[in-house]
Amino acid sequence: MPPANAELHARKIAEVVVSAWHGADDSGRLDVPISVVATLAALPQADSRGNDVVELVSEWTVPELVAYFRHTWRSVIRSRPEVTHLVYPVISWIFDDSQASVHPHAHAVARAALDAGQPDLTGTDRRFDTDLLGQVLVLLRPKSALQARGQFYTPSDIAALLAGMSTVEEHCTVLDPMMGTGGMFRAAAAVMREQGRDPHTVSWVGCDIDETAVACATVNSMIWGLGRDIVFHAGDALTPDWETHARAQRDELRRLASGIERDQRLIAALTSM
Ligand SMILES: C[S@@+](CC[C@H](N)C(=O)[O-])C[C@H]1O[C@@H](n2cnc3c(N)ncnc32)[C@H](O)[C@@H]1O
Repeated sequence: MPPANAELHARKIAEVVVSAWHGADDSGRLDVPISVVATLAALPQADSRGNDVVELVSEWTVPELVAYFRHTWRSVIRSRPEVTHLVYPVISWIFDDSQASVHPHAHAVARAALDAGQPDLTGTDRRFDTDLLGQVLVLLRPKSALQARGQFYTPSDIAALLAGMSTVEEHCTVLDPMMGTGGMFRAAAAVMREQGRDPHTVSWVGCDIDETAVACATVNSMIWGLGRDIVFHAGDALTPDWETHARAQRDELRRLASGIERDQRLIAALTSM
């Protein structure tokens, strides 16, 4: 039985994921285990017929799992092209055939996360109550690296306390220039829901110098249902124009994607004539 407390459950998943990764691969890479957990977060707890998803997915072979990863990220990028550059640092290996040697290691990590019941957490409303990716990232990084980067994320209960002290109105902007994996956004969205407000109406603006943390925050924005008004930037928050730059990049990617879609429709119409 997974722990009833979401924080403890996330901790357990993070521990087995990191242990499986270190047992399979000694490269020190973060992108593979992070993206495995991020991709599995798209799974529901049960399929449309009520079958237990853990049982189904645990049977997948390495190629089947990689095919699912590719399918999932293609769908995400098709529906949210503006986040492509934010998640790219952790998902690029999935589309790179020259990195096939890492596929069995990713499979081992996925099995560990499934055995620890990840879909019971991220495939249910319990996902709103914890930062699983943040816990995985903190456990993956050596303590010395965390200290050097000042990467100590605000514990969930403290973040909740801070968020509860202020009122987050609908249609406002919430800014965290050193957002880590976005824990303060999660807490603010939780307070909004408790008060009957909709986090989808908010513009969430965040920056972090660590591109892996920004990738986690971006996936978290989907896990936590923050909506589509996400303005995230991987870079130095001391740079004066980072927010303007982030908005311009987001708008450019949206424009590019709609241009490609329009061209594809045009080509399809012409070839069907
Ligand atoms: C103490 S953590 C806080 C994270 C988050 N705000 C929270 O409460 O959980 C500080 C974060 O600041 C980031 N950071 C440090 N210097 C930065 C800079 N110059 N620009 C942007 N982010 C920076 C680190 O990578 C780290 O993720």
